[in-house]
Amino acid sequence: MEKILVIGANGQIGSELVEALSAQHGAEGVIASDLGANLHRAAQYEQLDVLDAVRMQRLIERHQITQVYQLAAMLSVTGEQSPLKAWALNMDGLLHILEIARERGQAGAPLRVFWPSSVAAFGPHTPAVATPQTTIMDPTTMYGISKLAGERLCEYYFHKFDVDVRSIRYPGIISYKSPPGGGTTDYAIAIFHAALRGDCYQCYLGPDTTLPMMYMPDAIRATIALMDAPAAQIRVRSAYNVAGLSFSPSELAQAIARVLPQFEIRYAPDQRQAIADSWPHSLDDSQARADWGWQPQADLEQLTADMLKNIAAQKIYASRVSGFIA
Ligand code: SER
Repeated sequence: MEKILVIGANGQIGSELVEALSAQHGAEGVIASDLGANLHRAAQYEQLDVLDAVRMQRLIERHQITQVYQLAAMLSVTGEQSPLKAWALNMDGLLHILEIARERGQAGAPLRVFWPSSVAAFGPHTPAVATPQTTIMDPTTMYGISKLAGERLCEYYFHKFDVDVRSIRYPGIISYKSPPGGGTTDYAIAIFHAALRGDCYQCYLGPDTTLPMMYMPDAIRATIALMDAPAAQIRVRSAYNVAGLSFSPSELAQAIARVLPQFEIRYAPDQRQAIADSWPHSLDDSQARADWGWQPQADLEQLTADMLKNIAAQKIYASRVSGFIA
């Protein structure tokens, strides 16, 4: 039986991943962990700081963990506010789990590890359209630099120490259950809350800033499918490109206006524009499709309808999402 630890379980992806894993493995098979309080009904919970390697190791031994999803990280915008903290959190968080997995493997108790990379690992010299799996990577943010270094570490630990580590380059993830945490792509969530409040949305990216995006149900399916695939099928041990859909703020605004015709948007690009401009518009994910059967489902119309329906049902139209006015 698998025993799964999710680190960073209270975050945007973690909270929905815990739910999905618990549905698959039962509450006794999943341990959620994070710095704060237990937000999970469906799983066991342990408080854990990803920088505390000793506690992480004890927890993994005590629960006889077989799989770890290490999701704790600082994203692109908050990372630029505290670059050294972002580096320490993103790199040490990964290294701690890779080292534990190396030791566990050598002791005959192998640990399968998931760690998220990002489209932020690409940069201004990366081909922006249908970005290939293997290409120029020259990230400009501390977040992106930590993701690129992390990808190299994952591949290194796989080849050198046989650690079964797997990763995805997540696009911007769109969801309604938990707020995102300080990313450049967060506008694509905040815009829905503004639309439902009846506000004119002030977008911090220009109208034509096309970025790769993914609806949360697709992101969860991709993550679990990658982790459930037989090891022999995983031919990329840095991180896989996975595409969902690509759109710009004006295309998203038009999709919202097709449902809520009074919706209005204004554009006031700020420092996040430069970050977005350094990232790809779309990704070539043919390797993920070939190796472990990746296939996105959500399109822009479905995503828009689903987001509006679910945020409206929650009856809380967040006035602030991850530190900026929505
Ligand atoms: N959503 C992330 C960010 O905007 C990208 O991985 O920072």
